[in-house]
Amino acid sequence: MGFTISYNATHEIRDAIHVLKWIQANINCAISVVFPETKPDLSKLALVGHSRGGKVVLSMGIQLNGTIPISTIIGLDPVDGDRQGIQTDPPVLTFKENTLNMTVPTLIVGTRHGSENWPLFPQCAPENVSHKQFYKDLIEPVYQFVVAKEYGHMDILDDGICELTELECMGTAGSRAPMSRFAGGVVAAFLQAIVGNNTCFFNDVFTNYESAPVILEVPQQKGELPQNHNLQVPLQDEL
Ligand SMILES: *[C@@H]1O[C@H](CO)[C@@H](O)[C@H](O)[C@H]1NC(C)=O
Ligand SMILES: *[C@@H]1O[C@H](CO)[C@@H](O)[C@H](O)[C@H]1NC(C)=O
Ligand SMILES: *[C@@H]1O[C@H](CO)[C@@H](O)[C@H](O)[C@H]1NC(C)=O
Ligand SMILES: *[C@@H]1O[C@H](CO)[C@@H](O)[C@H](O)[C@H]1NC(C)=O
Ligand SMILES: *[C@@H]1O[C@H](CO)[C@@H](O)[C@H](O)[C@H]1NC(C)=O
Repeated sequence: MGFTISYNATHEIRDAIHVLKWIQANINCAISVVFPETKPDLSKLALVGHSRGGKVVLSMGIQLNGTIPISTIIGLDPVDGDRQGIQTDPPVLTFKENTLNMTVPTLIVGTRHGSENWPLFPQCAPENVSHKQFYKDLIEPVYQFVVAKEYGHMDILDDGICELTELECMGTAGSRAPMSRFAGGVVAAFLQAIVGNNTCFFNDVFTNYESAPVILEVPQQKGELPQNHNLQVPLQDEL
């Protein structure tokens, strides 16, 4: 959130990596106690985070460097701090194109309003430390969708989550539903493409972006998804 973005994220990143390791070691056993029929497929792990959480998951990607098999990392309006040089510790952005290697395909969703001025509060996703720069710095394959109008940084949250979040960042005064439908939809379509052996939905969102529930800039991509990317990750039954 706007007024907390300078705080140190080192511990959160470390904790999130611990959780990931715990999941790997224990989730099968823990779930089987309650739901004996359910078998989690740990070959299909995705990291998704919004705002500072977007920075956290992308930072996890760098620190993990392929040591835990994850399938994709998705940043929803990720923010790396206040501005270049004043980044939340540990800084993720390098400000050099094609240098951030997540080792997996990534998706970035941004909002143009995020970097616009708003009375009383600092910008929620300042221009040089948000989605555009992440997209530049990331190594392919990476895809980017930017919401051009109306909806802002906090509109990814559900309606009624917290009234304060509507004041803090520029965004819609009305229902956030179209934005959450778009953000949820594009994430689901990307996951289908990455781990679901089905690129149809994502290709459709990318190509027919004009029929999204929100107004989008032309989507960007660097590189292509590897052919049958999902098949490079063995399905649970094949292990
Ligand atoms: C952030 O936290 C880490 C771990 O405690 C520490 O090593 C680092 O110096 C902190 N950074 C700042 C800017 O305080
Ligand atoms: C990531 O791992 C590769 C080996 O898989 C290694 O060559 C590379 O130096 C590592 N990068 C970092 C930043 O640790
Ligand atoms: C990214 O990292 C992976 C794993 O270490 C490595 O195989 C790949 O070559 C790297 N990509 C680039 C463009 O450096
Ligand atoms: C963003 O970066 C550009 C290029 O380095 C610079 O000209 C501009 O002043 C920066 N904007 C802010 C708000 O720091
Ligand atoms: C992936 O999709 C293709 C085309 O629909 C199909 O032939 C193939 O069997 C599927 N693979 C898996 C592992 O589901």
